[in-house]
Amino acid sequence: MLAFDRSGSGVPLVFLHAFPLSRTMWDVNRSAFDRHFQTIAVDLPGFGESGLPEPGLTMEEMARQVAQTLEAAGITDKFVLTGLSMGGYVAFPFWKMFADRVRALVLVSARSAPDSAEARDKRFQNIALVEKSGVGPLAERMLPALLGKTSRESHPALVENVRSMIERQSPSGVCAALQAMAARPDSTPLLSTVSVPALVLAGEEDTVIPVAEMKGMAENLPRPEFHAVRGAGHLLSMEKPGEFHDLFLQFLKRRVL
Ligand code: MLT
Repeated sequence: MLAFDRSGSGVPLVFLHAFPLSRTMWDVNRSAFDRHFQTIAVDLPGFGESGLPEPGLTMEEMARQVAQTLEAAGITDKFVLTGLSMGGYVAFPFWKMFADRVRALVLVSARSAPDSAEARDKRFQNIALVEKSGVGPLAERMLPALLGKTSRESHPALVENVRSMIERQSPSGVCAALQAMAARPDSTPLLSTVSVPALVLAGEEDTVIPVAEMKGMAENLPRPEFHAVRGAGHLLSMEKPGEFHDLFLQFLKRRVL
């Protein structure tokens, strides 16, 4: 069973975190939703307080463990599944295997395409770095990509918060996820099967996944809603929690509830 936080009551909203963070990245968002919904934020295998995965971790296995955890926690109502970046990579196989449990999909800073050869090489360089020197240097390497220019220049506390969240992760968990992300299949063929409403949110300053790519992905979903958030980078829900909350809530009111 994976570690998770659960609070509020009503329609369940399930949140899957980015790499290399943990469920605590959603703390800033959950309190606003808790007034009207039940929120569940899960630590993916190897992150936060969830145990280390067995060797050979895949995105599919992560999705399976999320499903088992939610079932064991008695979440029987259909839920809104939100994944940010790696969380989105997990949301795709979750949809493939457990579509009947999903009421709507929210994809934040995520892509359906697999890694390019260059991206895969970078993963293996990062594995070598973490094996040799731990997670600290990876945080240093990733921070400029995770947070947008605006946040890096004007929110030093957020930069430090993300850095310390990364530094708390286990090197083995981080390396297992890097392997799993490098090996993930192309989820693009799944897009046309997403029969539920889907919200796609992009940060205008995201340098990991360009806005145009996310817009293109949204256009391949049958029931999409797409927004790009100004002044936000890859971790847009942490960078612009107010905008994230408003767009999410409007989507739920218009398309889901
Ligand atoms: C994430 O935010 O989860 C990562 O940037 C995903 C990735 O490295 O592809």
